[in-house]
Amino acid sequence: MNLTIKNLSKSFGEKKVLDDVSIEFSAGVYGILGANGSGKTTLMRILASVLKPSGGQVYFNNQDIVGMDEAYRDVIGYLPQHVGFYKNFTAEKFLLYIAALKGLPKEQAKGKVDEVLELVGLSSERKGKVGRFSGGMKQRVGIAQALLNDPKVLIVDEPTAGLDPKERIRFRNLLAKIAINRIVLLSTHIVSDIEFIAREVVILKDGRLLRKDSPQDLLDGIADKVWSVKVAESEIPSFQAKFKVGNIGRVGDGVFDLRILSDSKPHPAAVNEAPNLEDLYLYYFDEEVAS
Ligand SMILES: Nc1ncnc2c1ncn2[C@@H]1O[C@H](COP(=O)(O)OP(=O)(O)O)[C@@H](O)[C@H]1O
Ligand SMILES: [Mg+2]
Repeated sequence: MNLTIKNLSKSFGEKKVLDDVSIEFSAGVYGILGANGSGKTTLMRILASVLKPSGGQVYFNNQDIVGMDEAYRDVIGYLPQHVGFYKNFTAEKFLLYIAALKGLPKEQAKGKVDEVLELVGLSSERKGKVGRFSGGMKQRVGIAQALLNDPKVLIVDEPTAGLDPKERIRFRNLLAKIAINRIVLLSTHIVSDIEFIAREVVILKDGRLLRKDSPQDLLDGIADKVWSVKVAESEIPSFQAKFKVGNIGRVGDGVFDLRILSDSKPHPAAVNEAPNLEDLYLYYFDEEVAS
């Protein structure tokens, strides 16, 4: 099974949002990492075939998805970044409604709804109104609806935004379980979402593909660029002016430990540190590290 993107581009008016992106996916979880505005949602909408690209093609098992049309919709499940739920629907009623929209025969729909509710751990909440659910429960309903047609490709756009840490872990584990025999594409700007479950990480920046590699290979790539150095409080601004500074930890009276991303040694007293995905994010993006 494979999903292949070839020379994909998308412009809105003059603005180029995706620029000549080529990527190949096979079964497993992929993290699509990028700062806000880097083109993640646009890419996912094209892959979910709700948006047409300006150029390039997408192939599922070597067939152009434009030619596949309905057959492609049958193999994809999509959880958009912002989902409108019917707040007064119960979880069960909402799923039966979506099943009908997806064209599942009534006899089949009931069993399928039971199955996906079980999978996302919401069987006992099936009669609860979605409007009263927690953020994590809503996202699990969102995944459940995306799974109704047993998709081969599951596309989830920033699903963990707004979830508390416990809900995030639960959601992550759910995706890992679902990814057996499926392609799961998960976009996020939160690195801890993908650290443990992503087979590969795709880094998008300003609409361009920067890297696609396993988390370990990406980390190895910055192995000699992560430093820590102990400094006095008054020295912090000059380091921040010259380097990408990540965590600033207080280690004693007026002494701080700076984590610095730099191609060369930032200070004679700096020591090398083992990189993590937060460092990676900081290395590729200038913004504050998302946590
Ligand atoms: N329908 C649209 N019309 C015009 N500009 C858009 C549209 N959708 C997205 N954009 C622009 O494209 C860029 C990438 O957006 P998006 O794909 O949502 O990125 P991300 O999901 O990574 O935050 C942004 O600058 C955004 O303003
Ligand atoms: Mg987005």
